Parts: sequence; structure tokens; C-alpha cells
Amino acid sequence: MTLRMNEYITLGRSGLRVSPLCLGTMTYGNNRWGSDDAVSRAIFDRYIESGGNFIDTADGYAEGKSEEILGRFVAETGLRDKLVIATKFTFNLTQGNPNAGGNGRKNIYRALDGSLKRLGMDYVDLYWLHAWDKVTPVEEVIQTLDTLVRAGKIRHYAFSDVPAWYYARAATLAECHSLSKPIALQLEYSLVERTIEREHIPAAQHLGAAVCPWSPLASGFLAGKYRRDQTTEGGKGRLEVLKGTTNPVFEKFTERNWRIIDALESIAKQLNRSMAQVALHWAATQPGITSTLIGATSLTQLEDNLASLDFDLPQELRDRLNKVSALDPAHPYMFFEDTLQSRIHGGVTVHPWS
Ligand SMILES: NC(=O)c1ccc[n+]([C@@H]2O[C@H](COP(=O)([O-])OP(=O)(O)OC[C@H]3O[C@@H](n4cnc5c(N)ncnc54)[C@H](OP(=O)(O)O)[C@@H]3O)[C@@H](O)[C@H]2O)c1
Repeated sequence: MTLRMNEYITLGRSGLRVSPLCLGTMTYGNNRWGSDDAVSRAIFDRYIESGGNFIDTADGYAEGKSEEILGRFVAETGLRDKLVIATKFTFNLTQGNPNAGGNGRKNIYRALDGSLKRLGMDYVDLYWLHAWDKVTPVEEVIQTLDTLVRAGKIRHYAFSDVPAWYYARAATLAECHSLSKPIALQLEYSLVERTIEREHIPAAQHLGAAVCPWSPLASGFLAGKYRRDQTTEGGKGRLEVLKGTTNPVFEKFTERNWRIIDALESIAKQLNRSMAQVALHWAATQPGITSTLIGATSLTQLEDNLASLDFDLPQELRDRLNKVSALDPAHPYMFFEDTLQSRIHGGVTVHPWS
């Protein structure tokens, strides 16, 4: 499958056109594992020069600094109209005040006002619910976000890190009540994290939602700089800086993942491409994926990542990657595999209408 940065895709069943790689700015303003402002600016300029138009931030990234820096770059370049700017709400930066976080109406209004101020914009193109808060009624979430769409403060909204059933309920209720629907899902997805293939990707395909993977390199792990023997090539990476954290997102050094690294390294050598390019290409061209969020702490890394669309991954090599990274069989998904489906369909193959 060939994707190009200057060819755009609609984000789910919407009219919003985005490039196949989205620039993540979680590294902006982050002085532990991010990039300084000059490097961030070079990354921003080069991403746009390559044809990219889709940029992702969040109110919580570097306590709001990511939004401020991004807003400054957009203002300085005068490119507001050309860019699709996405930010997020949910996380709480105020201890002791439960209404300064979560997905209730009170927090959504507070968070959006803050984001627009830091970005120096009067609207965002896409407003992500960052994570499910488990308590706010879904009706309150979609009514609030629909009101903001109608008020012109956000052009579209979407959900990150939510259960698939929750997305399905929100999308269905919004459709039934003629409210603006969520248009996309943002979830962790890479060769070492494929859980969303069970529920989220099929749900998105049925509901017309885009899927935007985050951490497609597993926070740099799949770029191949970390080694089983605990050595790191090419400077201190994020996973080394964050070693010992209790956040499971950064626990990538498992035997299963090292086996994936071995296969990826051998395939990358065969294709004469970097491991990062092959891992990104795999994620960006998997079924159901619309636009993949990339991150970089240097211009060299960005160049490498942009080149991930410049080649084809032959099917037999994709099959090898799929096999080594396959999810363990789990109930009830075993019933949806070919062997058991064949018992349902009388031994013949039946394809769904599409
Ligand atoms: N919705 C959510 O919950 C959520 C969560 C996480 C991220 N996100 C979004 O997704 C974006 C991307 O996530 P991510 O930064 O975790 O993506 P990633 O691609 O998995 O990791 C990016 C990191 O990998 C290393 N790297 C990238 N390219 C490389 C290359 N070619 N060679 C060597 N190392 C390379 C760099 O870190 P080092 O230089 O430190 O090694 C870089 O910061 C974020 O910016 C954010 O917008 C969303």
C-alpha cells in the first residue's frame, strides 16, 4: 500500500482532510525527554514542508507548554488556515479539584478556554477526549461537544483511550439524536501493542471512525536503540530516562518484545531501511489505520520517520512481522477466527457486504 504525505485522507466519515502521518508534539517543552524550542521549530517546519498538515497536542503536555509553543509556531508562520490543529482535554493539573479534569461539561468548557488561550487560536479543528473518566454520562459528553461544534469553537471531536463499546455508544447516540458524531479514535498501536485489533479497529470500521495510532515506535523502542544487554545506542532515549516508572506504557523490555525486535531488525536489513521506517510503515498501512502520530526529538529522527512512506513492505515480510507480534488467542475472539467461522458457514468462505 502506498501512502504519500501530500495526498490527504478524510478523517473517518468527515470532511476533514489530513496527511497520513500526524506530527505529535508531546516532546515540545518537555525538558526531560523532549526537544528544545529550536529543534521543535525545525521539526515543525520540515513536517509541513513534507506536505504534512495534521498536528497533535494536549492541554497536559509539558503542563501546557506544548500548546503554547505550537501556537507560537503557527502564528509566526501564518499557517493557521492550512493546518489541522488537534488538542485534548481530560487530565487534571489541579490537585484537589475533581472538576478541573475529567470529561464533564464543567471541565470541557474550562479546558477548551485554556487551550485556545495557550494556542492563541479562536477554534481547534479537532478536540480529543484524552481518556475515558469512567463516571461522566456519555450523553453529557456528546451534548457538550456538539454544542461546541455548533458554536464554532471546535470543528470536530474524537475519542482517545476509551473502550470500544463506549465509542460505539457515543457514536450511535449522537447519530440517533442528530448530534455531531465523534470521527476518530486515538490509541496506542505498534508492532508490540496490537490489542486494539480485537475490538477498536473493527468498531471503527463499522462506525466510520478513523484510527490514529499513538506511540507507533513504542516510545522509541522499535527504532532499535535499546538492546537486551541493557546498552543503548545513540544517546539517552525516553525509555531510559523513564526507567523505573510505574506507567505500563513505558514497560517495553519484555522477552516477547525482544523477539519482535529481532525479526524487525532482520527485515529492515533485508529492505535496506531503518527499523523505525519499517515499524512505522507497518503501523501506518495496517487495515483500518488512517493517520499515524509520529514523534521525534531531532530533525534526523523526523527525516527517518518521514521516509517510512517511501517504500513497499512485501506481503511475505508483513506476514513475518504479523506472526512474530501476533496477539495470544483470547476468549471470545477465538470464535471469530477462520477455523471456527468455517463451522458456522458450512465450510465455505463468506465475505461481508462492504
Ligand atoms: N492519546 C494518548 O494517550 C497519547 C499517548 C502518547 C502519545 N500521544 C501522541 O502521539 C504522539 C507520538 O507518540 P510517541 O512520541 O510516543 O511516538 P513514538 O514514535 O512511539 O516515539 C517517539 C520517540 O521515539 C524516538 N524516535 C522517534 N523516531 C526515531 C527514529 N527515527 N530513530 C530513533 N529514535 C526515534 C524519540 O525518542 P528518544 O529520542 O527519546 O528516543 C521520539 O520522541 C505524541 O507526540 C502525542 O501527540 C498520545
